[in-house]
Amino acid sequence: MHAQTLIESTTSRDSRRRQPSIQGADVHSPNSLVIQLFNSLQLLSAEAYINGLELPDTALKGFLDGVLDRVQRQYPQLFVSYDWLLRESEQLAEGSRELMKIQYDLPTPLFQMMLGESSLIYPKYTMALWERGADGLETAQRQMLDDIFAKVGLEDGDRVLDLGCGWGSASNYLLSQFPNCQVTGLNLSHRQCDYIRQKQQDPTSALSSPRFSLWEQDFNQARFDQPFDKILAIGLFEHVGNLTQSFAKLASFLQPEGKVFIHFISSHLPYSSYSPFLNRYIFPRMRIWSYDEVPQHNQDLTTVAQWYLNGANYAKTLQCWLANFDAHQGEMARLDVGMDYAKFRRIWRLYLILCIAYFDMDGGRLLGNAQYLLQPTQRGS
Ligand SMILES: C[S@@+](CC[C@H](N)C(=O)[O-])C[C@H]1O[C@@H](n2cnc3c(N)ncnc32)[C@H](O)[C@@H]1O
Repeated sequence: MHAQTLIESTTSRDSRRRQPSIQGADVHSPNSLVIQLFNSLQLLSAEAYINGLELPDTALKGFLDGVLDRVQRQYPQLFVSYDWLLRESEQLAEGSRELMKIQYDLPTPLFQMMLGESSLIYPKYTMALWERGADGLETAQRQMLDDIFAKVGLEDGDRVLDLGCGWGSASNYLLSQFPNCQVTGLNLSHRQCDYIRQKQQDPTSALSSPRFSLWEQDFNQARFDQPFDKILAIGLFEHVGNLTQSFAKLASFLQPEGKVFIHFISSHLPYSSYSPFLNRYIFPRMRIWSYDEVPQHNQDLTTVAQWYLNGANYAKTLQCWLANFDAHQGEMARLDVGMDYAKFRRIWRLYLILCIAYFDMDGGRLLGNAQYLLQPTQRGS
């Protein structure tokens, strides 16, 4: 795969924009009967699979590819599953407590095994970058972080905030590459923070450095006394429902010359979208912002640059996660996942296979990752 096919700059994005084509299903009335029917069918089919419907992976993937291909070409409005997707939420991040419970506070070994773990790259739950010749997941994740650090213009000595820091993968790698940077990680997940606290006690981990501090806190409540030079939000904004207020908050955390880098799952549909199955079983209240949405919120922060990363990167990353998940079934089955493990396994395999199908749509041009470099808006005196 060549870089040009995987990464597009803003200059080429307009040719990829999709306009709604369905007759009679107005995107502004997403609760129309046809969308409700489609949602019910999705949930019914997903629950049939979860409850034991036997279907080989190839048949399942072929079925999903066929349905998604048809929908994205002919009925893209059906991806607007809920009317709340089209409005900014009252809270900045939405449904966070439930999200922690059914997703991010699941047992740590599940993610260590599925996402992979090394001394440099701790479990990282976001897209890896494959077009630079990576021969495996760890290298592809490292190359994604190198790419992000370059795009945000990281300088040694910067004070950096890692928002929604997961298991500390970006923080740990950054501290190991930039010996004078200071990093603050913020995360609401107690289990993920416990993993980081253990690393803070491990002298071989860069997170044990006094240059690192951890805040176990909700983004909605976050406050900091000292401003940051750079803010990274890698995979947090899928859980943020209010861009305008979030950007005002991020601007208040920044030095006047500071920069924010946001990286999230995004589509070239002209509106936000999401799946009813993922909403119920995997990531409640998550939303997939349209690629064009962020620049429309240039109030306290202004978009300086934006990039679209082709979904093929994520499909390949998810294939690695699925292979890891399957390879560790013996150990996984012994974890307390809060429900019958056989059911959990089917839910999670459907999640991974469905997401591979989503990111494969239209050769990865419809759904991928968006990245934005933002800076505080200069207001005339
Ligand atoms: C998709 S993961 C990405 C983690 C990490 N940045 C990475 O690349 O691996 C999203 C992260 O955002 C955190 N998060 C979600 N909602 C949050 C909230 N309201 N406040 C703080 N962190 C939140 C989750 O706990 C999780 O660590």
